[in-house]
Amino acid sequence: MTRVIIYSGKGGTGKTTISAATATMLAGMGRRTLVLSSDPAHSLADALGAEISRDRVTLIAPCLYGLEIDTIYEWRQNLSGFQQFVTSTYSNRGVERSTAAELANQPGLDEILALQRVMSEAQSGRWDAIVLDTAPTGNTLRLLAYPELIIGGDAGKKFFRVYRGLANVARPFRRDLPEDRFFDEVSTLLERMEQLANFLLSPEVSLRLVLNPEKLPLMETRRAYTFINLYGLMLDAVMVNKILPRRADLGPYFDYWVKLQQGYLDDIDGSFAPTPIFRTVLQEGEPIGIAALDAIAHATFGETDPGGMLFDERPIWLDQWNDEGEPGLFDLCLRLPFLNEDEAVDIARDGTDLTVTVGRIQRTFALPRILYDCTLGNHRYEDGVLRLEFYETSDGRRSERTPEPADNMRVEAA
Ligand SMILES: Nc1ncnc2c1ncn2[C@@H]1O[C@H](COP(=O)(O)OP(=O)(O)O)[C@@H](O)[C@H]1O
Ligand SMILES: [Mg+2]
Repeated sequence: MTRVIIYSGKGGTGKTTISAATATMLAGMGRRTLVLSSDPAHSLADALGAEISRDRVTLIAPCLYGLEIDTIYEWRQNLSGFQQFVTSTYSNRGVERSTAAELANQPGLDEILALQRVMSEAQSGRWDAIVLDTAPTGNTLRLLAYPELIIGGDAGKKFFRVYRGLANVARPFRRDLPEDRFFDEVSTLLERMEQLANFLLSPEVSLRLVLNPEKLPLMETRRAYTFINLYGLMLDAVMVNKILPRRADLGPYFDYWVKLQQGYLDDIDGSFAPTPIFRTVLQEGEPIGIAALDAIAHATFGETDPGGMLFDERPIWLDQWNDEGEPGLFDLCLRLPFLNEDEAVDIARDGTDLTVTVGRIQRTFALPRILYDCTLGNHRYEDGVLRLEFYETSDGRRSERTPEPADNMRVEAA
């Protein structure tokens, strides 16, 4: 079975560097490793200091292969009919053709195509390990959990089936209906996205989040963490990169930054434990080329096998208790196995963040969106799980708001 590791995180945090370093170390251990990038910036080649082809897997070093996924190529292979139809529909409505072509590029589809390429490489049986360096987009992960959203949820899927039937009947009379090729491609895309969602949940696939000890990456990583855990994707490591070294010769200018980073490093421990956290120090130069990447990987992982499944428990999930049609009643569940029954638990909510303090352990993470408008109720500790009650209030903000257009509601509900 091929081990698949997906690195995700904000741009500039070091995803490409850590991905290339992980792959280099794995190859050095004799495992046939493929490292791919779905970032259109194609920085993988720069990091590895090698030429990497866009359409063929390229040998970079013994056991190490690379591929910069060319999403335009993948688009042409998989979705030219889809793109053509969407483009011409928009341009029939007066949207300029180049703009229409942009619109046909559904945000996130690039990433889906890249993930499909990863899936087919994994299923080819050619590789011991595949490392994916993703593009710096925050929302891609959401698409993974909701492949149907791309065409408007389950409702959209049903609509699509009916529409296809109707189009066959009506085509002789109307010329602006999509070609069969469009329907075939969208069908295939949907099918493959379902396969993809299953593939991403399979036990050999995990995600790793890369961040720096700074405020904004930390907040974004917390949101990603909640999301990944709630949707059952496996997060097996958090990678903290660009940590300033503790050295006396850095001088007072850096004292401030070192202290600031130390505060964030503590926050990171509190936010993501017990998920393993790996730290990488800011190097004296840019880590470019196989030797530098190998060194950085060894310094980061130490004795740990970077290809191992480094953690496999889901520490957060949401239980829903309401009957259909009733206001929502939720338990946000946190696995905290070592809690003393009599330990004081304090829960503080700050907007969309929740801080849970148990004894001397404090943990802050992002609330899942579905709980934004809910009221925090009681909590209880059962079988090693802290359960926080949330309920939807009928007189709460939800009812004061003007109703959303039906279209949005349908997508939201899917
Ligand atoms: N630990 C590190 N020490 C020094 N430079 C680093 C380190 N990690 C990354 N860099 C440099 O920071 C820049 C951004 O890193 P990169 O891996 O391209 O980030 P991302 O892929 O997340 O955008 C690159 O120039 C890279 O060489
Ligand atoms: Mg990158």
